[in-house]
Amino acid sequence: MATKHILVVPGDGIGQEVTAVGKKVLEKIAAKFGHTFTYDEALIGHVAIEATGNPLPDETLEKMRQSDAVLFGAVGHPKYDNDPTAKVRPEQGLLKMRKELGLYANLRPIKLFDELLGASSIKPEILKGADILFFRELTGDIYFGEKGRKNDGDTAYDIAEYSRYEVERIARKAFEAARTRRKKLCSVDKANVIETSRLWREVIQKIAPEYPDVEVEHQFVDATAMLLIKDPRRFDVVVTANLFGDILTDEASQIAGSMGMLASASVGDGTGVYEPIHGSAHDITGKGVANPLASILSAALLLDISFGLKAEAEAVINAVDQVLKAGFRTRDIADAQTPAEKVLGTEAIGAEVLKFL
Ligand code: NAD
Ligand code: IPM
Ligand code: MN
Repeated sequence: MATKHILVVPGDGIGQEVTAVGKKVLEKIAAKFGHTFTYDEALIGHVAIEATGNPLPDETLEKMRQSDAVLFGAVGHPKYDNDPTAKVRPEQGLLKMRKELGLYANLRPIKLFDELLGASSIKPEILKGADILFFRELTGDIYFGEKGRKNDGDTAYDIAEYSRYEVERIARKAFEAARTRRKKLCSVDKANVIETSRLWREVIQKIAPEYPDVEVEHQFVDATAMLLIKDPRRFDVVVTANLFGDILTDEASQIAGSMGMLASASVGDGTGVYEPIHGSAHDITGKGVANPLASILSAALLLDISFGLKAEAEAVINAVDQVLKAGFRTRDIADAQTPAEKVLGTEAIGAEVLKFL
């Protein structure tokens, strides 16, 4: 029996809607397996700016530090997306949280549920069995280097920076994970052009001999973008820099059928944060149609990685599988064959998952 404290940080837009469902799944797991989970909530992003003027209030950060895990939603608001001059922005809260908690490794599993073979725009025979684990570096790169303007604001710059240490620690996590899977590691960079990528490749090559059981491949990111769609099954573990990882995993979400299916775990030095890879999706906010399965699968990662509760995590994944097998879909993963009565909203599909727990 475990006693754990979970901080729920829904953030903005559909973050609110999907995180509410993810939390219900955690509550059901605690009841079923006899654990005691306590909960608190905190603000981040646009809602935090509105309430406090700060996208990551000190109180939120402190609560994160005091928790055993964080279930996170999303941040973002069209108001800022359409105003490049805004100085205070929701996304700053997310980035500061990652940096402050030392969450340098973002695990993004791309796992296709067989039932969703028809939901993707990629042909089923290319997709069947695809199973990729991305390790996206999360606290370095162009995201966190010096940025600014010069020439009276007419020239802008963002500096991409990586140290050996930063590359090595994410690479080791990826090598270790590959050992527990199909023992293939693909390191993605742009070493033919970019200096940080050359350091990246150098570090991977240097430590690779320590993992002789892992087969290492180096790819340029442009080729990876193509190969993910052409032959997704060739990938096992992929390790890459912050920006490349951001872009490639949105692309790879189409292997799993939808952005609404992709969960992630951000881990490193401090409290682990578990969140869908998608954003606040204001185009569907308030309509009750957002797919909460990414948040539910993030809750499964939370149980597994931060709490070491493997059977509980498995139970969650299995429940999602059962709901899909029963034919239920949200709009984003429905296809032409899905009967209208099987297309459910956010809360209704969440309720189906709870029934299988
Ligand atoms: P997005 O991920 O919010 O949405 C992209 C598309 O996918 C939209 O059409 C949306 O409706 C759909 N989608 C996303 N999640 C879905 C779900 N669970 N169910 C069904 N459909 C889903 O990306 P965007 O539109 O580029 O960005 C919107 C805002 O979100 C921006 O402000 C951006 O900065 C922010 N954002 C935040 C995060 C985060 O908090 N981790 C991630 C990405 C984007
Ligand atoms: C993500 C998002 C964030 C990122 C943005 C909102 C800062 O796209 O979590 O993937 O680029 O890391
Ligand atoms: Mn992203």
